[in-house]
Amino acid sequence: MAQVILENIYKTFQKGVSDRSPNSGEGSPHPSAAVLRAIHLTIQDGEFMVLVGPSGCGKSTLLRLIAGLEEITAGNIWVGDRLVNTLPPKERDIAMVFQNYALYPHMTVYENLAFGLRRTWKASEESGQPSREAMTSAKTIPSWAENMLVTTTRQLPKGLQYRSPREQEIDRQVHSVAQVLQIEPLLKRLPKQLSGGQKQRVALGRAMARNPQVFLMDEPLSNLDAKLRAETRSQIVKLQRQLGTTTIYVTHDQTEAMTMGDRIAVMNAGQIQQIASPLELYHRPANRFVAEFIGSPPMNFLPVQFRAPLLLTHEQFRFTLPEAWEPVLQKYDGQTLTLGIRPEHLSVGAPAPKNLPVQVELVEALGSETYLAVRLNGATASHHIPLQVRVESDRVVQMGDQLWLAIAPDKLHLFEPETGQAIALPKHSG
Ligand SMILES: Nc1ncnc2c1ncn2[C@@H]1O[C@H](COP(=O)(O)OP(=O)(O)OP(=O)(O)O)[C@@H](O)[C@H]1O
Ligand SMILES: [Mg+2]
Repeated sequence: MAQVILENIYKTFQKGVSDRSPNSGEGSPHPSAAVLRAIHLTIQDGEFMVLVGPSGCGKSTLLRLIAGLEEITAGNIWVGDRLVNTLPPKERDIAMVFQNYALYPHMTVYENLAFGLRRTWKASEESGQPSREAMTSAKTIPSWAENMLVTTTRQLPKGLQYRSPREQEIDRQVHSVAQVLQIEPLLKRLPKQLSGGQKQRVALGRAMARNPQVFLMDEPLSNLDAKLRAETRSQIVKLQRQLGTTTIYVTHDQTEAMTMGDRIAVMNAGQIQQIASPLELYHRPANRFVAEFIGSPPMNFLPVQFRAPLLLTHEQFRFTLPEAWEPVLQKYDGQTLTLGIRPEHLSVGAPAPKNLPVQVELVEALGSETYLAVRLNGATASHHIPLQVRVESDRVVQMGDQLWLAIAPDKLHLFEPETGQAIALPKHSG
């Protein structure tokens, strides 16, 4: 197993020659065109790291750089104590499950799973470095003799076929992975006889069976239905814990990120916004982007005026902050700040100057809870501030109702409007 270190990674895709302006030198792409910029990320040995971010932010590109399928433009990639910048993919001891998985169409599920294992061993034998698996399967006869035995006994009934220790080990690994992913009944089928979700699990199994130093997974559950997705999610986590394989898992689904990751790296527009544990991201987002991306429905934002020591004012309400905010807010006296409050941290309260008067525009009853889309009173249509609120499911609310919403004082967030950076409370008071 191994630690993976990404040091100051940049990636720029070279445009075609015809696209280059006459003045731009060969190989000196414009830095602003970089798809990935200044990526620093250390994934600990055995850690489950999730990369999350909106479509097009560079998640797949980063995985492809780590796997060696794309060249980095600048920076270093370490796997264990090896600098792998220029190593070809097969020498990196990394297995990747792609967003668009590809199975060998002419091979059964069993053969698809076994293929990766055989290839890994072959590569390690050729490079003179026996893999961990190869070392565990003691060899008693030369491989040419083994191959001959396998070929000549292949047509015989199963009990009489020759199976080398290596084939027995492959068989064991194929079955153990198939069992975990619930694809054992499918082992004899061809890929064309599988549903999309089944194919995806086979692709996942093929990567896992190889027992690499590092797994890279690019949205491996995107074709599964909700139930299978939740099941497979926990199977992957369980298996990863058992194997202790360093894993980098890409998704744009924040539930997946929150439930699977030891830590999550939130990306936007080619840059990492924050790296933290799931709950740290939820409770202490570093900036407005993270605050909005993590949590569903997303956090609400409102512009407010701040007056020292602790007063937030808005046309429609005046709110006194808890004292813990005083030291960090001193320098913002008289300025506009962005107040952030999650739907679950607003509640229906009594008429009061500190509460927000709103009108209900939409009611979404999910059974277990109800979400309201509301609009702050007084806000004109051109200055419409929609807010989302979560209320208990037994509260009867109808479209058009007027409500007063109370803010949970110790759950609110404040951001600098220009930079979007969070104004952080000292940790002990958070
Ligand atoms: N081979 C390529 N040549 C040029 N641009 C590319 C290439 N591959 C990706 N890009 C660009 O790089 C950016 C990041 O793409 P990437 O596939 O890494 O995004 P992603 O975060 O994986 O998105 P998604 O969630 O949709 O899969 C996109 O703007 C994309 O158009
Ligand atoms: Mg992608």
